[in-house]
Amino acid sequence: MGFFDSAQEVLDKGVSAAKGAVSGVAVEQQSFVKQFVRMCDDGWRQGWHERNGGNASYRMAPEDVQSCKGFFYDTPSSWVALPSPLLNLAGEKFLVTAAGSHMRNVSLDPAANIGIVELDDTGSSWRIVWGFKGGGVPTSELPSHLMGHISRLAADAENRVVMHSHPTNLIAMTCVHELDSREFTRTLWRMNNECIMVLPDGVNVLPWQLCGTSDIGVETAREFKTARVVVWAHHGVYACGASLDDAFGLIESAEKA
Ligand code: 13P
Ligand code: ZN
Repeated sequence: MGFFDSAQEVLDKGVSAAKGAVSGVAVEQQSFVKQFVRMCDDGWRQGWHERNGGNASYRMAPEDVQSCKGFFYDTPSSWVALPSPLLNLAGEKFLVTAAGSHMRNVSLDPAANIGIVELDDTGSSWRIVWGFKGGGVPTSELPSHLMGHISRLAADAENRVVMHSHPTNLIAMTCVHELDSREFTRTLWRMNNECIMVLPDGVNVLPWQLCGTSDIGVETAREFKTARVVVWAHHGVYACGASLDDAFGLIESAEKA
């Protein structure tokens, strides 16, 4: 069964009403959720997220899970199988943007435009435990995000965020520049001295290919082994970091250069 073959099933079944938590701070009011929503807003204001362009994921810390779990659905969605097991992410929970959601709408209705997915204890499948109100499902780029998290965690145990956006200048640069990671990096470094400090490991560039697939996820994860920024030629960019600010700032710096 394909990665999103079960999406309709998730949609059809819907998700249960939110648990009526009697105490605690609603998921939308948690600090990490507010920061995530703000990042979506900021990215749209930068012009990086036309229509449903771009997506983001945040690996929840144990304290995030603790403060949100009272609001998780009594009946989560059914499990959706991943193309291959991601054992390193077993049991992890991610705050993720919804497939097709417009970044400019996230702050208007977080519970409809973002959601929390949890991986099972073998990392073989995921299910929705909060959000995606109205039948939404996680971003079509979930494979790239999850595989990206694994890859970056191997390099940096603190990594929590993977962000994907469509910044105009970086995309334009892929139309006129040699798609060689070393040369691409050197041009960015030359254009803006700050980039050497912010991006000492440079950026890696992938040639154009179909997005939303497991294949592009595998390749992105491979490129994430040696850089925190991966440019998808004629499409956009991926960045990661220990915090939302880190990931966002990497894209800001590369885009400015
Ligand atoms: P989603 O709407 O599924 O997140 O896709 C947006 C995108 O940018 C695809 O690369
Ligand atoms: Zn995209």
